[in-house]
Amino acid sequence: MIRLLSKQGIQTRAILTKAAEEFVTPLSVASLTGEKVFTELFDLTDEAEMGHIQLSRSADLVVVAPATADLMAKMATGQANDLATTALLATDKPVMIAPAMNVRMWNHPATQRNLKQLLEDGVQVVGPDDGDMACGEFGPGRLAEPDEIAEKILGFFSRKIEKTGPLKGRKIVVTAGPTHEPIDPVRYIANHSSGKQGYAIAEALRDLGADVTLVSGPTRLSEPEGVSVIQVEAAKDMLQATRQALPADVVICAAAVADWRVENGSDQKIKKKEGQLPALTLTENPDILATVSQKGEARPDLVIGFAAETQNIIENGKAKLAKKGCDWIIANDVSPETGTFGGDENSVIVLSSDGEDHWPKLSKKEVAISLALKIQDYFKGRN
Ligand code: C5P
Repeated sequence: MIRLLSKQGIQTRAILTKAAEEFVTPLSVASLTGEKVFTELFDLTDEAEMGHIQLSRSADLVVVAPATADLMAKMATGQANDLATTALLATDKPVMIAPAMNVRMWNHPATQRNLKQLLEDGVQVVGPDDGDMACGEFGPGRLAEPDEIAEKILGFFSRKIEKTGPLKGRKIVVTAGPTHEPIDPVRYIANHSSGKQGYAIAEALRDLGADVTLVSGPTRLSEPEGVSVIQVEAAKDMLQATRQALPADVVICAAAVADWRVENGSDQKIKKKEGQLPALTLTENPDILATVSQKGEARPDLVIGFAAETQNIIENGKAKLAKKGCDWIIANDVSPETGTFGGDENSVIVLSSDGEDHWPKLSKKEVAISLALKIQDYFKGRN
């Protein structure tokens, strides 16, 4: 995490608790932060260099990673019996914790009570994740991945600097994820879209200073910091939310909207009856990209769509550009062997009236950043 942050130009200063010293040495942490590591509350050398009160205020953000059940309890009750807890009580800066503990300890009413208190106190929380734990049990309690914590920290800072980027003042709407088309209150039709590409685009645009609204279908992703997120389920709701978010300078439709919805859905759970199959009738969903692309005064300057194809990518992409009436189509190959759907990489071709722009195989994050920079280029010299 320290390494990830340092790559982003964020300088870290570490305080180690006694328990932390059982896992890592101050020397190894110092080699990562490039700074002195602080461990003792009453250390003459430390206090002479920087008192603990000053230390607690020397950063823009205080992060506790991992936050144990013990440390959370101490924070919730305002205890200050070592350097870490003293700094946490003395700080006037925002605090973020990344809890990590056994699933039963996490689920214990005492920890949940402490968590509630910490949230009330304005502490930001990242994780914990679900997963296998060192103790052999499974469930919530695993420390969030370093990149997830780093991302939350970066989000915290970009929220502050977003108003200074090259896309400052540009309103951009991004659709992302799948849609769920209800059959009845418990069943739905869906697809495998993870939402990763759309979320990454929203984040990249935010990082360039844009005012981003993300209209998201159901995903497992956490809402990006500094972006207005509107959660929707079905295509109809996605269209309505997108329309409500207009006017905008740019609309990017990265969602994998279901083509059809169930016309004769039921308000009650459809009962299974012996030898009888429910006859579901499908009807076409509204096309959000085509609707937003329609000519008119409120049409955004730039409307961008995605074309997920398994064959004849360029040909099908160009046909889609014409049919939908959008300005750019990001065409990508989603045939199963590419691993694009749900994966982290994407190979895309940008199609527009200017022709074809082939991009190399990039991570979804890199595709997002390249697209954000291309949008920035588009607006260069325009008002
Ligand atoms: O027609 P197809 O689904 O292949 O087109 C893909 C593009 O159109 C994507 O940008 C997708 O977000 C958008 N789309 C939409 N509403 C639909 C279907 C597709 O916005 N109902």
